[in-house]
Amino acid sequence: MVSSHDNDLVFQSYGRCCRREQFFEDFYNIFLDKSDAVRSMFANTNMGEQRRLLRAGITWLLMFARGAPGSKLRHLGETHNRTGYDIHPTLYGLWLEALMEAVQRNDPSYSQELDLRWRNVLRPGIEVIQSGY
Ligand code: HEM
Repeated sequence: MVSSHDNDLVFQSYGRCCRREQFFEDFYNIFLDKSDAVRSMFANTNMGEQRRLLRAGITWLLMFARGAPGSKLRHLGETHNRTGYDIHPTLYGLWLEALMEAVQRNDPSYSQELDLRWRNVLRPGIEVIQSGY
């Protein structure tokens, strides 16, 4: 169970990150550098558009933690599953590490505590996407 206090602090942190376009650029630079397999999945992707889509995707994860229905996330679970982009569930660990590195670089109020809160808040929503595999 995610406390509303954790949700609020993470929501505010995301707000600070979103004010910087650099946040989304950093995320994809870090994420694609983590693995050649990941990099090749985005070889033909319009990354400007992808950054915009990610902005929405993170918002859905945060809304889910606040009690919103999981329909958007279940849909992502379908597009990312073995018959879709075929994103193996273990790759979400890399995704989360890249995201937290991007938060660390872009949120001036980043701390170890806030990092843990982010992970707790995102976990249930990420599990919804993974479970579609
Ligand atoms: C919780 C984590 C993630 C979120 C919120 C997320 C979100 C999204 C969104 C919103 C889209 C665009 C809509 C769609 O095509 O369904 C998308 C596309 C995509 N995602 Fe993810 N994603 C996540 C994890 C991952 C991971 C771990 C990988 C690969 C390692 C990945 C690879 C892709 C690819 C290949 C596309 C399609 C790109 C294209 O159109 O060329 N995603 N993702």
